[in-house]
Amino acid sequence: MLVGWGGNNGTTVTAAVLANRLGLTWKTKTGEQKANYYGSLFQSSTVCLGPGPDGKEVNIPFRDLLPMVHPNDIVFDGWDISSMDLGSAMERAEVLDWSLQEKLRPHMNYLRPRASIYIPEFIAANQAGRADNVLKGTMAEQVEQIRADIQDFRHSSGVEKVIVLWTANTERFCDLTAGVNDTAKNLLAAIQSGGEVSPSTLFAVASILEGCAYINGSPQNTFVPGAIELAVERNVFIAGDDFKSGQTKIKSVLVDFLISAGIKPTSIVSYNHLGNNDGMNLSAPQQFRSKEISKSNVVDDMVNSNPILYHKGEKPDHCVVIKYVPYVGDSKRAMDEYTSEIMMGGTNTIAMHNTCEDSLLASPIILDLVLLTELCQRVCVRPQGSETFQSFHSVLAILSFMCKAPLVPPGAPLVNAYFRQRACIENIMRACLGLPPQNHMHLEHKLQ
Ligand code: NAI
Repeated sequence: MLVGWGGNNGTTVTAAVLANRLGLTWKTKTGEQKANYYGSLFQSSTVCLGPGPDGKEVNIPFRDLLPMVHPNDIVFDGWDISSMDLGSAMERAEVLDWSLQEKLRPHMNYLRPRASIYIPEFIAANQAGRADNVLKGTMAEQVEQIRADIQDFRHSSGVEKVIVLWTANTERFCDLTAGVNDTAKNLLAAIQSGGEVSPSTLFAVASILEGCAYINGSPQNTFVPGAIELAVERNVFIAGDDFKSGQTKIKSVLVDFLISAGIKPTSIVSYNHLGNNDGMNLSAPQQFRSKEISKSNVVDDMVNSNPILYHKGEKPDHCVVIKYVPYVGDSKRAMDEYTSEIMMGGTNTIAMHNTCEDSLLASPIILDLVLLTELCQRVCVRPQGSETFQSFHSVLAILSFMCKAPLVPPGAPLVNAYFRQRACIENIMRACLGLPPQNHMHLEHKLQ
């Protein structure tokens, strides 16, 4: 169930799954296109099992390492403050080719988002115009309605599991206040009395109380300490924050490469412009600030890992700019300049320009987040010497790979580096099969 179902990501991921399920093809100006899941770690990348009998490496689809749900079997539902049906909302998003939209419209027109929780002060004032589908009543009554919606969907669709994912607009940060959102008990009491609780946190609470995993795809601090405590108490998975789709994904590769090669990045300047509704919402200062924070800490683990290059407390300059340019629509532009110090005082500057449809990068990540969460719900680990099996911590840090600002259990190391995050998923899945971790030694080819 998607919160923000009628948005660019919500409509695009729903359309993509329908198109794949129906095996759709469509004409574009460059020829026939077939539905696919490019950009999905599980559906479109492979893992190496090791050498086969002939000594050659055996690569298999990531999704075949363990039994996983296929995205074609996902049933979508969700909420939006805009009442527009999904067919029209897909047209409003301007992401998919028109001939594909024509084929999908009969399947999308009858899908309508459920009414949602709208607290205007949390998202940009420029969103007010689309808020025609909002719940009424006290905060506590609205949370009850969201719980009733989850139950209704569970029963009417017949699905085995429900996972709730926030892909609605970026909210401003919520004030962290003792007595309001610092503990599970206080958070539940604040909902009863109508305190400072954001819609994304209200959805998190409703999901957790329904026993449904909750994933936050936006940058705001949905997981206030009280929400984390509630998830731990109820043994429900939570994960976030903010989909790692484009610029940050490259950053988590490039900075890892530079620092691990012994090169010292000294300045990272990231400039974006985009023209979709997300961009319009982010043109408001408080919502931009949430995104700026989420994009800013992504190099910290890599910088901290190398005291040869960086003295204690030293960091590269890191600046993030986002501008709203309506004309470019969902086709986001990201321009980055990485300046590094090389040997003997030399300077190396890498500049890159990245253009692509934002929602077509985010949609496969939404699917990966949900599929990996579902898999984790079926995995238990028995530590050596222990009698009992344990499930993962409620804060599902294995999902860090797909998140810009990963949420990890208290005290756990925060990893942003791309290949370490990917190796974490691969090696945990290999362990489930009884395979040793992938270490790339290939000693068998290196001995005499
Ligand atoms: P969008 O603006 O097209 O869609 C958001 C939807 O949420 C809209 O339909 C809006 O009406 C709805 N909404 C707002 N408040 C709501 C509430 N309280 N309850 C229910 N619905 C609500 O934005 P888009 O492009 O789909 O992005 C969604 C989120 O994902 C944004 O926060 C964005 O920052 C985040 N994100 C997107 C990435 C991408 O590559 N597309 C990457 C990283 C994060």
